[in-house]
Amino acid sequence: MPTVSMTVNGKPTSGEAEGRTLLVDFLRGPLGLTGTHVGCDTSQCGACIVHVNGEAVKACTMFAAEADGAEVQTIEGMANADGSLSVIQQAFQDHHGLQCGFCTPGMVMSAAALLKDNPKPTETEIRDYLEGNICRCTGYHNIVKAIMAASGQDVSAIAAE
Ligand code: FES
Ligand code: FES
Repeated sequence: MPTVSMTVNGKPTSGEAEGRTLLVDFLRGPLGLTGTHVGCDTSQCGACIVHVNGEAVKACTMFAAEADGAEVQTIEGMANADGSLSVIQQAFQDHHGLQCGFCTPGMVMSAAALLKDNPKPTETEIRDYLEGNICRCTGYHNIVKAIMAASGQDVSAIAAE
């Protein structure tokens, strides 16, 4: 079986992958990074979002071989170097942006990608950006609040859940 090599969360990594192996299955299988979730496998839910060369990507829409040589970041690489939660992760916790947590890895990775390009997004911009992330639990209000808070903005005007 061919070997695929990539840098994942800052560490050079390689593993065997068939040509049809999806990136999400490579991350969760050979690499054991099960923080990236599979909610649909059909590019609908966003639970599998990771960053590939700095861009948010649904890892169920990409073959592992397509990420050969790439820089990949997963939710496991989002915490601070000392193991404490990143600003975005802490904001999700503080503003109750998760319930069951299934969508949360994808939400956090999407939020990080959004804030990189747009450090002070409006509520509308956040809601538009999260169009590809589905949450069955929260009603989205607290997720939006968490992302606004992570960007240093006042969240008091966002409707309560
Ligand atoms: Fe990839 Fe749902 S598992 S979008
Ligand atoms: Fe349960 Fe989003 S917190 S699906």
